[in-house]
Amino acid sequence: MAKELGVSKVAVPSAGNAAGAMAAYAARAGMEAFIFMPDDTPAANVIECRQTGANVTLVNGLITDCGKIVAERKEAEGWFDVSTLKEPYRVEGKKTMGYELAEQLGWRLPDVILYPTGGGTGLIGMWKAFDEMEAMGWIGPARPRMVSVQSATCAPIVRAFEAGERFADEFENAATVASGLRVPKAIGDFLILDAVRASGGTAIAVTDEELVAAVGEIGAAEGIFAAPEGAACLPALRKLIERGEVREGDEVVIFNTGSGVKYLEAFE
Ligand SMILES: Cc1ncc(COP(=O)(O)O)c(C=O)c1O
Repeated sequence: MAKELGVSKVAVPSAGNAAGAMAAYAARAGMEAFIFMPDDTPAANVIECRQTGANVTLVNGLITDCGKIVAERKEAEGWFDVSTLKEPYRVEGKKTMGYELAEQLGWRLPDVILYPTGGGTGLIGMWKAFDEMEAMGWIGPARPRMVSVQSATCAPIVRAFEAGERFADEFENAATVASGLRVPKAIGDFLILDAVRASGGTAIAVTDEELVAAVGEIGAAEGIFAAPEGAACLPALRKLIERGEVREGDEVVIFNTGSGVKYLEAFE
């Protein structure tokens, strides 16, 4: 869409994976890419951006600090800001997960979806997809219970959910090896929380120890080297079963959102 709309320079603050994707697409589209990432972003994310021709700036801070730099400089630099939920099309991309899920299940949806939440585009996008599919008559009004999964050391959405708040306060000293979940303040916090609540779902945190251990467990059982973000959903599911929030007979879908190969530092 950026190309269709005549954009020539794109900029993004990123925890890592959005930057890699944007750099690659920008290269294919003949656009200049300007990327701002925390200086402790996994090396694979930084290397892939540089090797696909992007201008990479490493920032001593979090994605929120990177976002401030893009916001301050974009006008003077002529950058189009691709920040999470500051333009409409990233959600349109991620919503395809909702369509693919329904398609693969024969035009129905599961009872529960666990999804690792950073900025929220995946969860918000899928929620939008379900409404669109219902409007088109492809599915009925039933919705999965949407579960937002975060790391205990960066869990603003979980904290707001538990406190009954519609907006989430910034999470202080946010840190997790699941770098995609290291979003201390999400601009679309209320959209995530609204969707989770409307679905009858919940928000739940797991520790970094639990999510790293889950990578090995999923790998050994399934032959899938999952990203720590996706793996976090397994211990989250176990906790929900313990709490009685997921029951025998529920059909549950866990989304793995990346590859463990990009997080080798987490396994050292
Ligand atoms: C691997 C991975 N999983 C999950 C997320 C969470 O993204 P969102 O909440 O925007 O869908 C990210 C975001 O950077 C990510 O890189």
